[in-house]
Amino acid sequence: MCGIIGIAGTQPVTDRLVEGLKRLEYRGYDSAGIAVIEKLGQQTQLIRRRAKGKIVNLEKQIELEPADGMLGIAHTRWATHGAPNETNAHPHFAGRVGLVHNGIIENFTSLREDLKSSRTFVTETDTEVVAHLIDEAMKSGLSGKDAFAQSLKKLTGAFALGVIIDGVDGQLFAARRGSPLAIGLGENENYIGSDAIALASLSTRIIYLEEGDWAVITTDSVEIFDADDNPVKRDITIVTGSLAAAEKGNYRHFMLKEIYEQPESVSHTLTHYVDAFNHKIKTTKQLKLSGLDFKDIERVSLVACGTAAYAAYVAKYWFEQIANLPVDVDIASEFRYRKPALIKNSITMVVSQSGETADTLAALRYAQQKGLQTAALVNVMNSTMGREADFALPINAGPEIGVASTKAFTSQLTALLSLAICAGVERGHINAAQERGLIEALTQMPRLIAETLTLDSEIETLAHDLSKAKNAFYLGRGLHFPLALEGALKLKEISYVHAEGYAAGELKHGPIALIEEGTPVIVIAPTDELFEKTVSNMQEVSTRGAKILLITDKEGALKTKGMADATLICPEVSVETAPIVYAVTIQLLAYHAAVHLGTDVDQPRNLAKSVTVE
Ligand code: G6P
Repeated sequence: MCGIIGIAGTQPVTDRLVEGLKRLEYRGYDSAGIAVIEKLGQQTQLIRRRAKGKIVNLEKQIELEPADGMLGIAHTRWATHGAPNETNAHPHFAGRVGLVHNGIIENFTSLREDLKSSRTFVTETDTEVVAHLIDEAMKSGLSGKDAFAQSLKKLTGAFALGVIIDGVDGQLFAARRGSPLAIGLGENENYIGSDAIALASLSTRIIYLEEGDWAVITTDSVEIFDADDNPVKRDITIVTGSLAAAEKGNYRHFMLKEIYEQPESVSHTLTHYVDAFNHKIKTTKQLKLSGLDFKDIERVSLVACGTAAYAAYVAKYWFEQIANLPVDVDIASEFRYRKPALIKNSITMVVSQSGETADTLAALRYAQQKGLQTAALVNVMNSTMGREADFALPINAGPEIGVASTKAFTSQLTALLSLAICAGVERGHINAAQERGLIEALTQMPRLIAETLTLDSEIETLAHDLSKAKNAFYLGRGLHFPLALEGALKLKEISYVHAEGYAAGELKHGPIALIEEGTPVIVIAPTDELFEKTVSNMQEVSTRGAKILLITDKEGALKTKGMADATLICPEVSVETAPIVYAVTIQLLAYHAAVHLGTDVDQPRNLAKSVTVE
């Protein structure tokens, strides 16, 4: 998704803008650009450099034609309106105005229509019209600040904006509606950025703009206004640790680093939800969820996108089995438009790594408008969802940079299982011994994940075969059905090998027609009560020529000797926590297949880390 950075500085800004853009690369993008106000004696001019593709292309442009100044904005663009080319790349210019934008201006066609007679549009973007609006307002005699404020009122849609204006020396304008934007405070300098990671090398003192806020930023002042133009004060958050977390260290890719961080990230999640000392789950009161009472809740509605949605599907099984609490799972983009029947004594819980995904956020707001209690399980607590939900629950995985979600997934699972146990205890559906058993299983997660990581080189070898395939299938039953979906998604996302996940029992109702000699089928089957049934399904495809990779445990391997083409043996793990451990194998499998194919693992084509458009 598009990324923004801006600096109101006392030193030249170009290098730092480019460095900030690199920190935003993880969001996914297809072009990049910078604009600065250059000073030539008493004269100033607005100049820009832009390039299609990776930031290195932009760096080459800057090297060929240096551009620098003390005030600048920069952008990584993930194309929505108009092809990913240099013309459509931000910053966009209109007269004296330079502008970067993240999100979508929904009424851009009518605004363009209004300005058509007096203005020439050169791009296919929804963004360009905003620069024209501001420039036009200034032509009518307004100051930069008033022109910016007036233009914002004309926009509908979701956006974050950064603006510089030639002749309005030293002022950087910013606005946030629907898309996140943060202000970083520095020494004799101030900054804007899409998130704290973009600002990591510049500032640790961050102000998160609230919905509808806009701001005027100079080297020594930050003025913030709300949607009604009243001056407001917003809290300063001290952000630490994000700098280190945004470095790859010795790992070849962020994704691999994040896969390897899982023993630690899962243990961080556990620290929040589990009283390990007393072998108890933390109560809603201990979790500071006052007002949330699982006893009174009749239904949980889980809403999410992508990998987070698959974590939600796993959680459905947990909540229903452990807490006898019915759960609906919705993909966020479907939720509000299907006009779900609303149950008063229910809670709508959105699950999101970023806390900014547009569809998930819209679902949260929809539930709130309908008067339902809401919770947000998010990795970024300061995110919009974290701030807007009635209850914010941390995933605690630490910053995740690789576009394909890995450690956030296992931490989402860990948090959701913890919440299911909490609900089970508070609803009296499990007794103290069962609670203790589940807590013991949970606290073994970090160790078992670490043990699973030792399968890495074996998985790497198996991935070579997989990378040669055109199609692959992932099968699982019960808790491992959603994991099969996640396995297929991981492979598709980063290796571009087509893959589908199926409930093992469903395969014969159609997709089995696609199995031919050598089609890889990955079967996820620890020895639980469904094991034998999954093995039968495995044999159905095996006899039709499929090449089987069975992911199971020691007992499962013994029971299926000679049946699979390859068997990956995971550590013994309790039935309930198995998906958390088995997730590691499907992540590594996709990772190595992608590396073997030479794809851009951390920034796969067409994908974005944080999807802030519907
Ligand atoms: C994008 C990412 C996925 C992620 C999904 C939901 O599609 O590429 O990895 O699972 O968004 O993101 P969220 O931040 O809401 O979990």
